[in-house]
Amino acid sequence: MSDELKRKAAAAALEEVGGGMRIGIGTGSTAEHFIRLLGERVRGGLDIVGVPTSERSAALSREEGIRLSTLEELPELDLTIDGADELDDALNLIKGGGGALLREKIVATASKRMIVIADSSKHVRHLGAFPLPIEVVPFGLGSTERAVARVLETCGYEPRLSMREGRQDPFITDGGHHILDADLRQIADPNALSDALLRIPGVVDHGLFLGIAACAYIAGGDGVRRIEA
Ligand code: 5RP
Repeated sequence: MSDELKRKAAAAALEEVGGGMRIGIGTGSTAEHFIRLLGERVRGGLDIVGVPTSERSAALSREEGIRLSTLEELPELDLTIDGADELDDALNLIKGGGGALLREKIVATASKRMIVIADSSKHVRHLGAFPLPIEVVPFGLGSTERAVARVLETCGYEPRLSMREGRQDPFITDGGHHILDADLRQIADPNALSDALLRIPGVVDHGLFLGIAACAYIAGGDGVRRIEA
């Protein structure tokens, strides 16, 4: 059911893709529906170029026959279409459940517009039930983890942190970093938390996408709704 909703959200967003566009291609199961649908359109003659947000999405895009480029060749994109782990009414997001948050944020902010695709279970009143992914460099991991815990406490949260596990142990992102997942339950002030986390030297970035998404297609039992930020 949720998979069918993800596909419907992806199909609705695909309507915004036009010939000649430079498209940021997201990561995750919802984005994979988008990649497959985009592949069908490309094989039908649609001429676009994509910039993928992960090695996984790059591999699937290639299988689908989608022409790919990089932000070095195309520093500005027309549109990025990506999933989310949570989104609120203002289209602030938590992303990074699939471990691709850094490239996703770079690609989304290099785009004139970011469109979120999601099933309605991701649409929440307040962000934070989904653990916030925090991407950290391997050097000094123990000290960075302590610094993150201190910042969370200062911002009023219980410092419930876990190191994400991967096939290699711990999980390694496409950029060679690790991910700490912070179980915050409810994020009262996302901007304050974002600023505080970004001041820690070992933190590369985090999964709060604030003021980045322009619109969302949310698929539920009653159809697909389009929300503008
Ligand atoms: C990957 C992400 C994904 O967009 C997010 O995890 C949603 O994934 P899915 O569509 O599989 O639910 O941020 O880093």
